[in-house]
Amino acid sequence: MSVTMDDAVAAETVLSRVDGEGGRLVVRGLDLEDLVAGHGFEATAALLWGAVDPGLGDPAAVATRLGAARARAFGRVPAILAATDGLAPIDVLRAGVAALSADGDRAAVLLATAAMPVLLAATARRGRGLAPVAPDPALGQVADLLRMLDGAPADPARVRALEVYLVTVADHGMNASTFAARVIAATASDPLSAVAGAIGALKGPLHGGAPGPVLDMLDAVGDPADADAWIAAALARGERLMGFGHRIYRARDPRADVLKAALADLGPRDPARAALAEAVERAARTALAARYPGRRLDTNVEFYTALLLEAVGIDRTLFTPAFAVGRVLGWTAHVLEQRATGRLIRPKSHYVGPLPEGDDYRAAANG
Ligand code: ACO
Repeated sequence: MSVTMDDAVAAETVLSRVDGEGGRLVVRGLDLEDLVAGHGFEATAALLWGAVDPGLGDPAAVATRLGAARARAFGRVPAILAATDGLAPIDVLRAGVAALSADGDRAAVLLATAAMPVLLAATARRGRGLAPVAPDPALGQVADLLRMLDGAPADPARVRALEVYLVTVADHGMNASTFAARVIAATASDPLSAVAGAIGALKGPLHGGAPGPVLDMLDAVGDPADADAWIAAALARGERLMGFGHRIYRARDPRADVLKAALADLGPRDPARAALAEAVERAARTALAARYPGRRLDTNVEFYTALLLEAVGIDRTLFTPAFAVGRVLGWTAHVLEQRATGRLIRPKSHYVGPLPEGDDYRAAANG
């Protein structure tokens, strides 16, 4: 018997529905396309949090409180940077969140969310030998992130493109990092601990760590004419093609199309890069369809994440932290939702190891 949790239902949620067969994502009653068209970052935060805690349901109030929380998180930046020298950016986020404390769930949710762009920008600037830039609480979270990264106000088209990305990835059912957050929250632990654990789950290449390697793959292919041969060789070596396939979607990942459209809205980009990306996507989809005819392995969110974030000017070492800047909305909403149930998550394991000598009781379904 091979045990998986593939069909297990871990929670009831009012937050989002992932329709793997139909290739559809619904967030709080809105199709992803409508969510993205009508909601910026703060409105998405209010939509998700407000579904579980009406006190966090007003976008304008959320914007004010997130601004104040960014300033508070920035106060911890010197100590966090001192403690994380040499760590990868995603590990700076993990360690940084773990070093925060807040009074009560609401304050923790706001602080965890606000800390993500502050820590991302501070670690990125340290990597470039630059001092951190303090947040501007009057700005929206996305404009402030780019401003803290660059040290100058950001072009509105870049802000919009990044905002579309962050809203697109804000919540996605019971994905691995959200599940990790809910498991931690279910012990009645605090939201900051749940977010620290979720970051640990996100960083793996089978979850949020894929977009950086997508660009590495494009660089390795180099020339559109080499795409088919490179992809065939990678598959022959038994490698996974980053940015393709999904555990739930049996149709195309709807987030890929939303991000593809955002990329087009951003305006003309490097034509050589665009041609290479197109050739690699085509080659990968064709090769995967031929190799796994019974299983649709299509472009997932991470392929276009890589292209969009690259076009926005975010370094590939910051892609997984950028994912966390968006997904923290889902993590924290799920944490609030899980805490409200008051129920511990405690599945069983199926023991298949040795039994004590001479003991004849059966090892079925034990935990
Ligand atoms: N490249 C090559 N082969 C693949 C890929 C891929 N991208 N995806 C699946 N396969 C293969 C599997 O190895 C498996 O082969 P096997 O039957 O010979 O063992 C077969 O296709 C079927 O696999 P699935 O059951 O569809 O894959 P699973 O659900 O276990 O994994 C996952 C899903 C982890 C996303 C996988 O598709 C993958 O590794 N993709 C690349 C990494 C990636 O893009 N991750 C980001 C996912 S999106 C997100 O988390 C935000």
